[in-house]
Amino acid sequence: MEILQNISLNPYNTFGIDVSAKALASFTTVDELSELLFAKPSTEEMLVLGGGSNVLFTQDYNGWILLNRIPGISLVREDDDFVYVQVGAGVNWHVFVMYCIENGWGGVENLSLIPGCVGASPMQNIGAYGVEIKDAFESLEAWSIHDKTSNSFSNADCRFGYRESVFKRTLKDKFIITGVTFRLHKKPVFNTSYGAIEQELHAMGVQELNIKVISDAIIRIRQSKLPDPAVTGNAGSFFKNPEITTTHYEQLKISFPLIPGYPTHPGIMKVPAGWLIEQAGWKGFREGDAGVHPKQALVLVNYANANGAEVYALSEKIIQSVLDKHGICLEREVNIY
Ligand code: EPU
Repeated sequence: MEILQNISLNPYNTFGIDVSAKALASFTTVDELSELLFAKPSTEEMLVLGGGSNVLFTQDYNGWILLNRIPGISLVREDDDFVYVQVGAGVNWHVFVMYCIENGWGGVENLSLIPGCVGASPMQNIGAYGVEIKDAFESLEAWSIHDKTSNSFSNADCRFGYRESVFKRTLKDKFIITGVTFRLHKKPVFNTSYGAIEQELHAMGVQELNIKVISDAIIRIRQSKLPDPAVTGNAGSFFKNPEITTTHYEQLKISFPLIPGYPTHPGIMKVPAGWLIEQAGWKGFREGDAGVHPKQALVLVNYANANGAEVYALSEKIIQSVLDKHGICLEREVNIY
């Protein structure tokens, strides 16, 4: 195992921010992870990265970056309705989705083309187009940093919520996810209820539904409105869609009759942050190389050489202006370091 010193993190974060880390090493097995944790002085901070697709570095990282590169996709059991597939945390998420589609296993096709690795997916219960990972999640294996043991977590143990899990809350920085087991349908159940999907399938001239055409439609939708991190630095949605009370929503509707909202729980409405940001005038805004994507206001971008502090400063201004205009405080989805 090679431990590199003072290394640029530019290739390891999709925002393309050029900061450096004190040390960087990768692991491909749980044993290698355990060895690395043993080698790292306990006083040094540490951050595990998969695809680096949900982080914004605002300064050099004064600690160790551990790259999770645990490989492998294997079918571990099956019954009449489901296959159970164990996936290494370092497997690229979209590669896993494509593998499922090739094998006819349903459940993650709506999550096509999401950047990042499998290990990060339960952390924030990734979701798109009407599906969240919790819907196809069976269990995960995670290494306890304190106990130095492998532990299994069921779906209920993970306490999934909207872009939430126990690993972002009470168990933050206590476990490293090493593998995830998914429960996938042998007879896929199609989920095309999210507005844009039906429209896209229609535009594609699809006559008969299957998971491949749904995946193709999702890929087309994502490519049409989300910037490709390989071309323009970004970390997907920068903010969460805020949840507000129905009373607050009804009040806002008086001043903003067109405000979209979706009920999520009794008395709670989710409002698209992209709409709020667009209404506050930020869509397509650019200052230096930091900007707001012209086709999806929820996505902040680094056009080339923005630094993390500039992107962060832009996010602060957006939060303040949405608060002033709509009285809603946006919460960042991206992790800031
Ligand atoms: N909208 C605007 N202006 C914008 C963007 C959005 O008015 O610039 C409004 C429109 O009313 C639109 C609605 O927001 O109908 C919803 O937009 P969209 O379908 O693009 O979804 P989103 O709510 O903005 C969420 C996820 C995305 C996911 C899409 C599709 C969050 C924080 N984001 O975005 O996830 O791809 O739904 O399901 O929940 C990500 O997490 O990185 C991500 C891209």
